[in-house]
Amino acid sequence: MTVSARKFYSLSDNAAELALESAFFAQLKMRNGTFKLTRAARFRDVEIAIRPAITERASSLRQVLDVGVSTGLTTVELAQFLRKCAAPARVTATDLFIHAHIVEVGQTVAVFCDPEGWPLQYEFFGMAIRPWIRRLDYVTLAFIPRLLARAYLQPRLCRRIRAGLSRRVQMITRSLPQDGEITFIEDDIMIPSQHLRGKFDLVRAANILNRNYFSDDQLKTAIGNIHSYLRGPGALVLLTRTNRSQENAGTLFELKEDSSLAVVRRVGGGSEVEKLLLDFRQAEPVFPSATEVKE
Ligand SMILES: C[S@@+](CC[C@H](N)C(=O)[O-])C[C@H]1O[C@@H](n2cnc3c(N)ncnc32)[C@H](O)[C@@H]1O
Repeated sequence: MTVSARKFYSLSDNAAELALESAFFAQLKMRNGTFKLTRAARFRDVEIAIRPAITERASSLRQVLDVGVSTGLTTVELAQFLRKCAAPARVTATDLFIHAHIVEVGQTVAVFCDPEGWPLQYEFFGMAIRPWIRRLDYVTLAFIPRLLARAYLQPRLCRRIRAGLSRRVQMITRSLPQDGEITFIEDDIMIPSQHLRGKFDLVRAANILNRNYFSDDQLKTAIGNIHSYLRGPGALVLLTRTNRSQENAGTLFELKEDSSLAVVRRVGGGSEVEKLLLDFRQAEPVFPSATEVKE
């Protein structure tokens, strides 16, 4: 049984073991239909496949961006992997949804929701209940109370949050190192972010740029943004997706002088959106030519 948000956030760090933490977050479906699903050690096969390419470029990997990190559990592992490869990397971890609120409605009922009041979990007499609808709910008609509850609660939760009548928490792993090596920011990969532009030597997007979450047009928008966040030629992009049997399909790309992306390494047959990256062409070149730099 899933633990309730109130219980989860009252556990001491030791008690919030990784398995319990992953199980809690994996049940949370965000407003845009994506899940906070993540799992420890899910990228071992990817790490083995890309290790030679990363080690070869280690000294140039200083700023790393991990996009759609969920709780950051696998970001912590990415930072450890880069350290083992001798890369002096500082990692920026982004997710569209980091902040959340626990709103208590009396002593026995509570709602865990995002800052817009979108319910992520109900707690009813200590029992955690998912607010999102799955296919079977249309057969059993369990979708009706869920739809009604959300429509009734969302504006009320939103008002309570604005009035300061909630407990603000972060959907971030407790396994985060305290050395400041990883910085978390809320960011939407679909919207260009000026302060991320031209900054990164490696961008990873794992289990986010998937065709079952986003349309090709949305994927192209995200790819354009990722491209603009790269520092310049030689920078890397890693796209991966984990399948049901916990194997990964992904591609490591390198940015070329003409600002196109080329495949460095594939794992598990390559990323399902690899072609979108290979076909991507930037509207205007961002990298100044050698003469422009001299001037
Ligand atoms: C399935 S999790 C992947 C977590 C982690 N990268 C991994 O592979 O274990 C997908 C994450 O993407 C985030 N996400 C969804 N849409 C996003 C967007 N437009 N911009 C940034 N993050 C987003 C979700 O909140 C969720 O935490």
